[in-house]
Amino acid sequence: MEKPTILGGLKSKIKPFPTWPQWDKSDAKVLLEVLHSGKWSRRDVNNVASHGAKSYINMLEEESKARFNSKYSLTVSSGTAALDIAVKAIGISSGDEVIVPAYSFIATATCVLHAGGIPVFADIDEDTWNIDVSKLDKHVSPKTKAIIAVHFAGQPADMSDLMSYAREKGLIVIEDAAQAIGAKWQDTSVGSIGDIGCFSLEMTKNLTCGEGGIIVTNNEDFYKKMYSLHLTGRSFNGSWYEHEELGWNYRITEFQAALAYNQMKNLDNQISIREKNAAKLNDLLSSLTGIGLTSIDPRVTTHAYHLFTFRFIPEEWTRFSRKRFILALNAEGIPCYEGYSYPIYKNPLFLSLGYEKYSLICTNAEKITKQSLWLPQNVLLGDEQDIEEIFKAIEKIRYHFNIK
Ligand SMILES: Cc1ncc(COP(=O)(O)O)c(C=O)c1O
Repeated sequence: MEKPTILGGLKSKIKPFPTWPQWDKSDAKVLLEVLHSGKWSRRDVNNVASHGAKSYINMLEEESKARFNSKYSLTVSSGTAALDIAVKAIGISSGDEVIVPAYSFIATATCVLHAGGIPVFADIDEDTWNIDVSKLDKHVSPKTKAIIAVHFAGQPADMSDLMSYAREKGLIVIEDAAQAIGAKWQDTSVGSIGDIGCFSLEMTKNLTCGEGGIIVTNNEDFYKKMYSLHLTGRSFNGSWYEHEELGWNYRITEFQAALAYNQMKNLDNQISIREKNAAKLNDLLSSLTGIGLTSIDPRVTTHAYHLFTFRFIPEEWTRFSRKRFILALNAEGIPCYEGYSYPIYKNPLFLSLGYEKYSLICTNAEKITKQSLWLPQNVLLGDEQDIEEIFKAIEKIRYHFNIK
């Protein structure tokens, strides 16, 4: 077996991975089209373009409604903005509790704080890293109003059990699909299964325009409220200077919408490339000890693979840590990182609010944050050689550092 790069061997990665984001002349064309139109932002109430001109914001919303099979869609400035207004639109206010998974990006929980509510952290499933629906009972109280499900890394959460549970308890479900645009649970697009779905268009995401967000819902009242909230609280049917909600400016620009709209045509093809390559990588890695693969629920019909996740199993290594594994893999030319340093409640913000107690409850989230390994989605956009080179790098590291 060849030596790893950190022991003086040659790098496993020979040709560079595909870069991200990817763009072509058609992206430049739509951006210039917006530039020349002089219509750079949404200037309408009641979702009727006041320009009387072509609006990429409206086109992106129409495309999202069709693609995600939803009656309403609203584009906003970020995934964080989408979550913030979704939580407010369902009526979360002072003292209301919202159950959120402990393993996610901080916005999944801070959106609840912004509305004056209380995030309650639920543990994740050790194998899929998504919210563990079987453990929700202990978190539900008379103050619970909603659950936020995260489709972590692009893998849909168990939306069948989650929706049955939420309906039985009378809870609203918001899907944080920031990492999962295009993913499907039992052939249904994520985002359109719960009451409101939120996507992120931030630069690392699988559909991007730099920054941005898309919200989908079938509920007219939620839609109208979100529309108002994102437009500085303007009345849905009112005039430009009539404000009825405590809103904010969460608008997206025509430039962002044009880019996202044009990029959307690549989404399905990119997802199928990632799925094919992830399947090969999972297959190759299953022959190695020392690392653990993330399980895929058989009811997942499309995994968006925003990340390829796996685990460093410390008990199976001697005198070799996750940190050294990552350094060794990076030296081979493979981008890999540990991901979230700790569950959301261990961020200084939440510790200052007295959330430390959750470390005794969310034991899987604690474990995963200590063992997680993330590969970014662009490494899955290449060909078989890319996947073989990733495997070769990990295999070399395992062989040479499996010290007994
Ligand atoms: C699970 C999750 N929720 C919400 C967000 C926030 O999205 P944005 O960065 O577009 O504000 C992210 C972004 O990383 C995320 O991963």
